[in-house]
Amino acid sequence: MKKNEFRVPHGPAGKWRPTLQLIRNPREALESWAKDYGDPFLLNALNGPVVVTGREDLIRTIHAQDPNDYAPFATGTIVPLMGSGSMLILEGDAHRRERRLVMPMFHGDRMKSYGASMQQCAKEQFSAHRERGQVVALELMTDISLEVIVRTIFGGNDRQLAVQLMNASRVVVASASPLLFFSQKTHVPFFGLSPWDRWRKAKKELFHLLDSVIEDRLKSSIPSDDILSLLCNAKYEDGQSITREHIYSELMTFLFAGHETTALSLTWAIYHLHKNSVSLSTLRNELDSLEDDSPTNLTTAPYLKAVVQETLRIHPIVTETLRKLKAPLQLGDYLLPAGMSVAPATVLAHHNPTTYPEPELFRPERFLERSYSPFEYMPFGGGHRRCIGAAFASYEMVIVLGTLLKKFEFELVDSEPVVPKRRNVTIGPSTGVPIRVIRDR
Ligand code: HEM
Repeated sequence: MKKNEFRVPHGPAGKWRPTLQLIRNPREALESWAKDYGDPFLLNALNGPVVVTGREDLIRTIHAQDPNDYAPFATGTIVPLMGSGSMLILEGDAHRRERRLVMPMFHGDRMKSYGASMQQCAKEQFSAHRERGQVVALELMTDISLEVIVRTIFGGNDRQLAVQLMNASRVVVASASPLLFFSQKTHVPFFGLSPWDRWRKAKKELFHLLDSVIEDRLKSSIPSDDILSLLCNAKYEDGQSITREHIYSELMTFLFAGHETTALSLTWAIYHLHKNSVSLSTLRNELDSLEDDSPTNLTTAPYLKAVVQETLRIHPIVTETLRKLKAPLQLGDYLLPAGMSVAPATVLAHHNPTTYPEPELFRPERFLERSYSPFEYMPFGGGHRRCIGAAFASYEMVIVLGTLLKKFEFELVDSEPVVPKRRNVTIGPSTGVPIRVIRDR
């Protein structure tokens, strides 16, 4: 192949069919296309042509590229969903400025201060679910991670407000049909019955609630250090304040990006641990050896951390991340023109048998035996758009799993295998993973 020539092998023919295959079962689709057409390959998705790759060297090139050469992918679908101030669709200087403002809110010592609240949410939610009868892991984890993000963003004092926000957010997530994220053509009303109508109705209710909370917080003189207060008082480096519209977009983004992802990953962790008795007993032994379940102790447990890492490897919640090229990109042998998009396919990288022998096996030990480059392991994406909640989510997973598994012994109610299934932009387990408590420890 001559260099500087755009001739990436074509993937599947057509637009609708491959897009629907990608929506339905991204892992199966991407793996079979990479096998049939090679890596990289060109996919003609509904939102435009995309070069897909799971190769470490090419992902490195994509993530090392100047951020100014990229635009976010398919903003046309995201803006009506999240608002025009969402970090997901900002680009260039505005995106950098936003990340610099928001990143410290989810990092370092600040993040550690959330540990006690995360643990309290895990314990209280678990008791409530247990009292109601059978515990369904996904429902439990959704309630835990939703309460964690709501408390982190809005503060933990107003219980009634937290419950209202949690209920409204649940309705918004439930109304987020995958189609809405994959084509703007689906953003059409139809007598109140279309996915777009359902989303707009749910969003309107959450919007009203957020609006009144923002209004109160902007007027309030009581000092508070939750994320909403930080946003309301935040100043960019140039001294400018963040606009109200912008605060609304970011709250929507944090609520949306920040809880379902973590809940799905926690559910997978529970499932795999209870399908793999060796991993479960190794983890139990480690937890037993800890003096107590304080967040500080839980974060020093290496096997617990490896369980979290392996869960995010085997089931990346976002199977591929996308960037649109604003300038040509030399990707290995291929020169890609501006206007084309590139997609590091996390699911292909995470299931590469050369990097991860027997990739189908849940084996946390692999993260204790060696380290992986950020182009081999990237559950939180990479480059200038790497997830701002990565440290927060990993920390939350450690606290929630450690807290529950140190205190209780569970078993799975169903023996049927659980497989990945599309939810909206995320991929989750095909069932809710019901569990039974067999012993309090
Ligand atoms: C297990 C949990 C989570 C997973 C697997 C996850 C995964 C991801 C991925 C793959 C991306 C795209 C990165 C890219 O394009 O390269 C992303 C972006 C993002 N995530 Fe997360 N995430 C999680 C939790 C969170 C949490 C707790 C927050 C907190 C607010 C959050 C906020 C965001 C935001 C704001 C972005 C956009 C970043 C940007 O465009 O600059 N995520 N996440």
